[in-house]
Amino acid sequence: MSKIIVAIDGYSSCGKSTLAKAMAKQLHYAYLDSGAMYRAVTLYFMNNGVDYQVPEAVESALANISIHFERINGENCTFLNGENVERAIRDMRVSDLVSPVSTISAVRRAMVRQQQSMGRRRGIVADGRDIGTVVFPDAELKIFLTADIDVRTSRRHLELAAKGIDANWDEIHHNLQERDRIDSTRDDSPLRRAEDAVIIDNTLLSEQQQLAKAMGLANERISG
Ligand code: DC
Repeated sequence: MSKIIVAIDGYSSCGKSTLAKAMAKQLHYAYLDSGAMYRAVTLYFMNNGVDYQVPEAVESALANISIHFERINGENCTFLNGENVERAIRDMRVSDLVSPVSTISAVRRAMVRQQQSMGRRRGIVADGRDIGTVVFPDAELKIFLTADIDVRTSRRHLELAAKGIDANWDEIHHNLQERDRIDSTRDDSPLRRAEDAVIIDNTLLSEQQQLAKAMGLANERISG
C-alpha cells in the first residue's frame, strides 16, 4: 500500500501533536514534531547567548546546531547536539521566545531543509505552522486544526501541570495569543490554512472523535 504524507497545521496548543502522534501510531508512520525543532534552536540561542537579531550570530550558531529525534520508552524525544532536551524545550521561557526566533528566514531555511529530507520516503505525519503550505505542499492529506482559545489555554495548563511544570493560566493565555499573532503575521511562511486543507475545529470534540475523523480522511487518501 502506498504511503502518504499527513500535514497538520494550526494555532498554538490546539492538539496538533496529540492528533499527529495518534495518527502516526495507527498508520505505523514516523512522527515529525516541527515545533520541537524551532524550540531546540531557541533553547540553543538562550543557553549560548546568541542574539537572534544579529544575522551573523544566527548563521554561525545554526552551523553548530544538530537536532534529531529518538523514541525512548515510547516517547518522542528531541535531541539538541546529542542531549535530550525534550523537557527543557517545553519551558515557558522557551515558549516566550520561540515565535520571534521562528520569524528568522535563516532559521526557517535550515529547519525546512531537514524536515523535507525526513519526509522524502513519505510515511510521515508532521505538525507545525507551515507544513501544508511550505514544507510538504504536495502532502496527500492536509488538516488545519483550530479550537477556542480558552479551551486551548485550559488544556495546555493541564498538560504542563501533568508534567510538573507550574504555569499560570493568564500567562499561558497571553503566550498563546501572542504566538498566534506572531506566527500568523510574520513575513516568511506565516501560519495560514492551505487552500486544500480540511478544517477540523476540535473545541467540542474528544480526542477519539477527532482521531476518527482524521483517520477517515487518511484512509480515503491512502486507498486513493
Ligand atoms: O508547535 P509548537 O507550539 O511546539 O511550536 C512552537 C513555535 O515554533 C510556534 O509558536 C511557531 C514555531 N513553529 C513554526 O514557526 N513553524 C512550524 N512548522 C512549527 C513551529
